[in-house]
Amino acid sequence: MILITGGCGFIGSHTTIELLQFGYECLIIDNFTNSSPNIIPQMEKITGKKINFEKVEMVDKNALAIIFKKYNIDCVIHFAGLKAVGESQSIPLHYYQNNLISTLNLLEIMQKYNCKKLIFSSSATVYGNASSPLTENSQTGIGITNPYGQTKFMIEQILQDFCKSDKNMRIISLRYFNPIGAHSSGLIGENPNDIPNNIMPYIMRVAFQNNTMHYINDNYKKVNIFGNTYKTKDGTAIRDYIHVMDLAIGHLKAIEKLKKGYDVFNLGTGKGTSVLELIHTFAKTNNIDIPYQFTNKREGDLESVFCNCQKANNILEWKCTKTLEDACRDCWRFQKNNEPNLIVDSFQKN
Ligand code: UD1
Repeated sequence: MILITGGCGFIGSHTTIELLQFGYECLIIDNFTNSSPNIIPQMEKITGKKINFEKVEMVDKNALAIIFKKYNIDCVIHFAGLKAVGESQSIPLHYYQNNLISTLNLLEIMQKYNCKKLIFSSSATVYGNASSPLTENSQTGIGITNPYGQTKFMIEQILQDFCKSDKNMRIISLRYFNPIGAHSSGLIGENPNDIPNNIMPYIMRVAFQNNTMHYINDNYKKVNIFGNTYKTKDGTAIRDYIHVMDLAIGHLKAIEKLKKGYDVFNLGTGKGTSVLELIHTFAKTNNIDIPYQFTNKREGDLESVFCNCQKANNILEWKCTKTLEDACRDCWRFQKNNEPNLIVDSFQKN
């Protein structure tokens, strides 16, 4: 059985669906910090299968041990973690504590129960300010601007050391570029519990407010484009936007190719898209209006981030098959079917 930590989150839920459809047996654990239990029946609708789920706080080592005792786990995909960049700057200790302790607990319990396979959900953020196109050999760890990114980098270091100490361990870190899109059913997608930090969920809410009968609130009148004086084709920043279903398949390929030792792969399209191009593509593909305005650059943002994905293409035999238009269409289908989630989680309220 594959244990999926954070399996109710955006990337975890889409990956679980692919795994189930390819016949893998899965168990999700989650604590719903940035997700909702409502996703479970949606996943069951898509797959026609019962979702095995346990609510677990991974910072509680005993709770994790109970899971490994109860189920026969032979592989783990570790998505669980706090991921809001801005929030990580205001409450850094909470981020270090949560992301590092939960991973250390996981590794300790995996060791105890002789579980030797792990896929880790890493991020392009580990490359800090290295210049694009980024390969797996690009410099890492220099110029990371926030504690969230530091936790991804630190966890990669911990995994390498852990792997060296146990020659039977098989670990792959997958460095995601910018995941967007949604399942083509429109039943699941990205729906953060607060004002989105990331561009795509923000665009989706502005689209919802301006193209349906629903009014959310004044935050969603327009998209704020953070900076239009970058040295790029149209002055707005460039990112590598990858469809979450392509990303999900990347995890399946990684499981198939896991071998002894530690390895790392970029998962991105290899193609750079500007913020303006993204907004225009969203509007055009869906035939709707997306009002926007230019505002100041966001502190810590980089001009241009995109990958070279040759290594994953060659070794994992994985390639993106979805286009930016597919992602925009799928996002809009999901958003139209789903009211934006406006629950402010209890931690942020305090
Ligand atoms: C950020 C994080 C990265 C994390 C990723 C998750 C940093 C330096 N990086 O990446 O660690 O893994 O999110 O997907 O913070 N933008 C706007 N208006 C908005 C929101 C964003 O113009 O309302 C622009 C940003 O300036 C950026 C692009 O859109 O150029 C993408 O932003 P975002 O979705 O937040 O992702 P990243 O900043 O690339």
